Amino acid sequence: MSIWRGSLPLFLLLLAAATAEPASMLEGPSGPVTVLLQEDRGHAVDLPDTDPRVQRRVTGWAPEQIAVALSAAPTSAWVSWITGDFQMGGAVKPLDPGTVGSVVRYGLAADSVVREATGDALVYSQLYPFEGLQNYTSGIIHHVRLQGLEPGTKYYYQCGDPAIPGAMSAVHAFRTMPAVGPRSYPGRIAVVGDLGLTYNTTSTVEHMASNQPDLVLLVGDVSYANLYLTNGTGTDCYSCSFAKSTPIHETYQPRWDYWGRYMEPVTSSTPMMVVEGNHEIEQQIGNKTFAAYSARFAFPSKESESFSPFYYSFDVGGIHFIMLAAYANYSKSGDQYRWLEKDLAKVDRSVTPWLVAGWHAPWYSTYKAHYREAECMRVAMEELLYSYGIDIVFTGHVHAYERSNRVFNYTLDPCGAVHISVGDGGNREKMATTHADEPGRCPEPLSTPDDFMGGFCAFNFTSGPAAGSFCWDRQPDYSAYRESSFGHGILEVKNETHALWKWHRNQDLYQGAVGDEIYIVREPGRCLLSSSIAAYF
Ligand SMILES: [Fe+2]
Repeated sequence: MSIWRGSLPLFLLLLAAATAEPASMLEGPSGPVTVLLQEDRGHAVDLPDTDPRVQRRVTGWAPEQIAVALSAAPTSAWVSWITGDFQMGGAVKPLDPGTVGSVVRYGLAADSVVREATGDALVYSQLYPFEGLQNYTSGIIHHVRLQGLEPGTKYYYQCGDPAIPGAMSAVHAFRTMPAVGPRSYPGRIAVVGDLGLTYNTTSTVEHMASNQPDLVLLVGDVSYANLYLTNGTGTDCYSCSFAKSTPIHETYQPRWDYWGRYMEPVTSSTPMMVVEGNHEIEQQIGNKTFAAYSARFAFPSKESESFSPFYYSFDVGGIHFIMLAAYANYSKSGDQYRWLEKDLAKVDRSVTPWLVAGWHAPWYSTYKAHYREAECMRVAMEELLYSYGIDIVFTGHVHAYERSNRVFNYTLDPCGAVHISVGDGGNREKMATTHADEPGRCPEPLSTPDDFMGGFCAFNFTSGPAAGSFCWDRQPDYSAYRESSFGHGILEVKNETHALWKWHRNQDLYQGAVGDEIYIVREPGRCLLSSSIAAYF
């Protein structure tokens, strides 16, 4: 086993990527590879409120922050937007959501948006009942579900209220996902995490957009509004700067609007699916949490029968996606687990051969930051997902990139999932640069659970060569590739068995190089042993 460090291995990797076919997981476990941070690339600075990309560019009741999300099937999609401006102050008066209608006009040509769908509107508030703190109430948030769409088809649309002058948007367009079936796949699925809104975020998003994704998965930690006080003062580390001086963990909710405005060129034309991270918790009055996250995004919750914004599923061509909640009850007796059992039982692998999941906190990260933080979730859910032959898991949370070998219960397993963590989207918190297997870096097990998730489950210590230790003394076998650089990933599913995964570093934007690249290969004949699941193969 070798641990590669520094610039020479990076050069060799780039050379190999430029000259060779991507490696395949059929060749067995790979790595371990470690690429450390280039010193000048670790810091991230938020876009200020004076940046034109975050400022309100509409007037009156004209829509802004327009976004498209998928429903459970490619014949349906959500369009969301915001009208009116937010308010900040000691006393704020929520807008009446009924003031502005929620209408989408759509069709197959820009000059023929003749079909019409209507939906719902809501507002949310973020209230801090403490002297001197500013409260927030949102603009009117609209969600409209389009139904009866043709798969794999470009639709043009306008959204807003046609009864109010100047309250309809310009014409935008998006493409529906390919029809559900085993030989039908989107070209490119972008996967990002922990974006925030820094100048590094803009590099990530520009780079991602240049790869022209058909779909974006955002695996939690979105705006980082909770790195701010309600007076708009921000920091790179809330607990370091403010924790002892504030009565509650504050947020500056306009950062959400800035994020929605900055992202609109992407989200109005490319469907994006979001799942919650810890930065979406955002406690407020009455112990209320996740208000912005739940209100701002559309989710296929009813369509996938989860009835929750925190976990849901959807089909894209031959892929069944499951988004899970790391920050809601995941115990075997809870609603999420029962829903997951039902959802998995309904999946027909002859129709959607690929089973891909996403959630925020990784199970197989080897960085010191958040090491085994989600261990209780892993203990509760891994066996169920493994028994249904889950292929790929996407996570974020740890601010670096890491790809695992196929693994189950910390043990290399040719039928285990590939865990890919892309928490390197560019937010202003520090990049993860140290590993739990470095001398003196292994955390005390009792210190590892997340405060919000609670629980302590780190009883299953490392198996294999490092058995009995909470941390390995070298990069674990299950860790194939890890690198501390900002970036994003692109998944290209080619057919029922082969998918090409590419991870792109931000610094390679103009070189066209790929940071990490591998064919993820399914082996259904070997791995799907359950008779009902294997019947097709
Ligand atoms: Fe996180």
